[in-house]
Amino acid sequence: MSILIRGGTIVNADREFRADVLCEGGKIVAIGENLQAATATEVIDAGGQYVMPGGIDPHTHMNLPFMGTVTADDFYTGTAAGLAGGTTMIIDFVIPDPKQRLMEAYKTWRGWAEKAAGDYSFHVAVTWWDDSVHADMGTLVRDYGVNSFKHFMAYKNAIMADDEVLVKSFSRALELGAMPTVHAENGELVFQLQQALLKKGITGPEAHPLSRPPMVEAEAANRAISIANVLNTPLYIVHVSCAESLEAITRARSKGQRVFGEVLAGHLTIDESVYRHPDFDFASGHVMSPPFRSKEHQAALWQGLQGGNLHTTATDHCTFCAEQKGAGRNDFTKIPNGCGGVEDRMAVIWDAGVNTGKLTPSEFVKVTSANAAQIFNIYPRKGTVAIGADADIVVWDPQGTRTISAKTQFAKGGFNVFEGRTVKGIPSHTISGGKLVFKQGNLMAVQGAGRHVDRPAFSPIFDALGKSTKLAEPVAVNR
Ligand code: URP
Ligand code: ZN
Ligand code: ZN
Ligand code: ZN
Repeated sequence: MSILIRGGTIVNADREFRADVLCEGGKIVAIGENLQAATATEVIDAGGQYVMPGGIDPHTHMNLPFMGTVTADDFYTGTAAGLAGGTTMIIDFVIPDPKQRLMEAYKTWRGWAEKAAGDYSFHVAVTWWDDSVHADMGTLVRDYGVNSFKHFMAYKNAIMADDEVLVKSFSRALELGAMPTVHAENGELVFQLQQALLKKGITGPEAHPLSRPPMVEAEAANRAISIANVLNTPLYIVHVSCAESLEAITRARSKGQRVFGEVLAGHLTIDESVYRHPDFDFASGHVMSPPFRSKEHQAALWQGLQGGNLHTTATDHCTFCAEQKGAGRNDFTKIPNGCGGVEDRMAVIWDAGVNTGKLTPSEFVKVTSANAAQIFNIYPRKGTVAIGADADIVVWDPQGTRTISAKTQFAKGGFNVFEGRTVKGIPSHTISGGKLVFKQGNLMAVQGAGRHVDRPAFSPIFDALGKSTKLAEPVAVNR
């Protein structure tokens, strides 16, 4: 199947220009003015619209077994919802149980992902340490296209990585040319604050943000940054939610450290008042970690994106229905943590970012696809509209509007943290792997059509880090 996108304005991270785009065999094969279509070609009229690289959501959890239950979206429904919102690739997480072999968990997740409708890749979590973890990290990087490892500094008594795990895993990742990433929250502080709140009789969702104040996150962000600094590794911090963590990243970057920050569409647009809502289902529907923060933090996060100290936008898509959230009706610590968004990220960030003048369309492309593709070393296969790139494209109608609602969404879980928000700027068409999968509100996602995307190790920054490490090599004193 060939698709010709005619009459639109291509938006890449570096520039906007008028051109047609021809897709064939899953790739972009031609870009230029007045391209001609063969008879069998589907023609999309993109007049008055933008033609952009499909979104990459670098942080999702489909089919995740978590806190005693499993997320409502699996790899089919979750990636299909993404396609409806213009997101053509996700990077999800393999999360081994402590003591479980990484390879075993990885193969389980790869099996679950076979039904994905859009492209996917995996960060692999390091939740414990022994020689097998060291060996499996090598196998994953060399033979399975993994180039990033995740560390949860929260979730004590479950998947939390202590400093020993962080140091050993960051060092191993550097050796392999893979990016260490962290969920930055001090798990011990969270645990102690949770116990104190329960003891006081504050058992509802309003206790959730109280147990995870900004400094709990900032402590962990600073610690991870310090460890990365000492070991001279790069670092990617997921879901940065507060000004204090952003300050840590900004400070480190201003001194030349290669730290990257991810921010969620939810943290940019939703504030903490949701946790005090009298309806349990509404309040618990917003329970995720780190929690939503005040409007001052939101403003800081936008400035982080604008100033180049936050690099990617994600959703942490991790959906649970009201019944699942109800497990924590009498104890907020038992509410499964997680919210959705993969379907809405692009439109929410366009509406709140581009329509307000905070971001240009090219900056929008940077933070919704190109930067993630570069950081995780799949650029220019992904993250740009260019000849030879995968034909993952969103045709964006800047005049189109949609009122977001759980009632009309494709994602499962029956809840939407952006409920009622009317966004201007929506996808009219999504092309994934050269196939038209979404057209004017109609989703044509195909179960199993998504492919695993291998991500090569040693992105260019590792060469730079290798040189600086060599120059700083210690020498013994000859006595
Ligand atoms: O609350 C969240 N974010 N749930 C998913 C797991 C994680 O911490 O990313
Ligand atoms: Zn997390
Ligand atoms: Zn997550
Ligand atoms: Zn349910």
